[in-house]
Amino acid sequence: MDFRIRPPRGAPRITVPLTIPLLVLAALLTAGCTPGPQDALAPVGPVGAMESGLYNLIFGIAVVVFVIVEGLLIYAVLRYRQRPGDGIPVQVHGNTKLEIAWTIIPVLILVGVAIPTLTTIASAAGTPPGRDVLNVKVIGHQWWWEFQYPDQNVVTADELHIPIGTKVALTVVSADVIHSFWVPKLGGKLQAIPNRVNTMWFEADQAGTYHGQCYQLCGTSHANMRFIVVAESKADFAKWIADQQANAVTPSGGEAAKGAQVFATGPCVGCHTIRGTNAKAKIGPDLTHFGSRQTIAGAILENNPKNLAMWLHDPPAVKPGSLMPNYHLTNDQVNALVAYLESLK
Ligand code: CUA
Repeated sequence: MDFRIRPPRGAPRITVPLTIPLLVLAALLTAGCTPGPQDALAPVGPVGAMESGLYNLIFGIAVVVFVIVEGLLIYAVLRYRQRPGDGIPVQVHGNTKLEIAWTIIPVLILVGVAIPTLTTIASAAGTPPGRDVLNVKVIGHQWWWEFQYPDQNVVTADELHIPIGTKVALTVVSADVIHSFWVPKLGGKLQAIPNRVNTMWFEADQAGTYHGQCYQLCGTSHANMRFIVVAESKADFAKWIADQQANAVTPSGGEAAKGAQVFATGPCVGCHTIRGTNAKAKIGPDLTHFGSRQTIAGAILENNPKNLAMWLHDPPAVKPGSLMPNYHLTNDQVNALVAYLESLK
């Protein structure tokens, strides 16, 4: 008897060279692997290093498993392929030794993956070691991040400042739905869950601006819920804190003073705080030192007068679903507000 499988009579033989399309596909698929601002494999602090180290370890184990399994498969296909004149192979059922081996080996591999994974999670969550710790409360909102420094009495949005070489203890919560806090180069991700407090810490060992973003689908503008972490020298950080602690300076004249008036009498005060004024609401971001921030609107736009005017004219057009509606402000109102807000350094 002949059990060989033959292509049906008249079927075309596949002769298209697949090498070139496969290489193009591989190039396209790996194009995103170049180092970028959110490259978790190029960490800049101990927690990021710990997490990418874990990734590399598991990747290494996976590569070894892949090479062994695929090697055995290819070997079996070639060595035991059917040859002309072969009869039916020996029919066997079960092999106790083999079955025990292929149960125990994966168990050992999984234990080998679980131990470093659990220890890494335990070291990155909770409170950081040592005493030189900066406490920050992170609050996820649809769709922006609030950062509170409870010990310094500072509140800001979408721009977290930290001193280099200092462990930052983060308490992560949410004001509405589930978000996820992630700064790929420093550490994370950690979910921000309503009515639940999660903790993690990280540390930057190099000054720089690190990009972060929400990592949990949280509504229409999930993709527009970014933030930056500015890691700076201890002296620069101390200066930033001192600047942020001051109340806003109310402009004495000009366009900015007009803007302060528009802000105080229009819809803005219903949602925002500007310390030192009558604006004390806590629905939207605290704008006390708005002009000092590098970005606006959930860190999706650079903070400049042009972008701010665009935002004020129609927030939902910039950020779909934005809780700040279009108030149909006039050009004069927008120009005055831009002058005022940008003056809040
Ligand atoms: Cu918040 Cu996605």
